[in-house]
Amino acid sequence: MERTLAIIKPDGVAKALAGEIILRIEKAGLKITGLKMVQLNKKSAEGFYAVHIKRPFFESLTGFMSEGPVIAMVLEADNAISKWRTLMGATNYKDAEEGTIRRDFATDIERNVVHGSDAEDTADFEINYFFNAFELCA
Ligand code: RTP
Ligand code: MG
Repeated sequence: MERTLAIIKPDGVAKALAGEIILRIEKAGLKITGLKMVQLNKKSAEGFYAVHIKRPFFESLTGFMSEGPVIAMVLEADNAISKWRTLMGATNYKDAEEGTIRRDFATDIERNVVHGSDAEDTADFEINYFFNAFELCA
């Protein structure tokens, strides 16, 4: 079983999309083994997206990610990382496949509703960033 970190970003929470997104996750056979709502501050958003520190969008991205609450989830399945990224769609919603979360709900390349880990090592880092062992279910 593979694990990935999913986040409903501040725009998704603000637009009351959590129910719709969780429905799509469950229908796709991804098992939710951890879930919490938290508000990141600027520093904790910067730590989470540290891989992007040199990108021109870093300031804006970390401001966006700390503007309101997010819902973080640990998802488990065979190929959980790619399954969740398929449900999310491409980073830029204009390039995303029909029926994906970003195509259906994103309004901007940055305000793209959801996050997903992109590899096993980043998934481990990101899961540990949000959850401790006691908060994850079997
Ligand atoms: P994520 O990490 O949030 O799941 O998204 P991703 O892998 O599809 O995209 P990534 O390249 O990791 O970028 C992280 C987030 O930064 C914002 N972004 N803005 N203005 C821009 O050109 C730009 N590019 C990326 C998006 O919110 C993207 O999801
Ligand atoms: Mg990424």
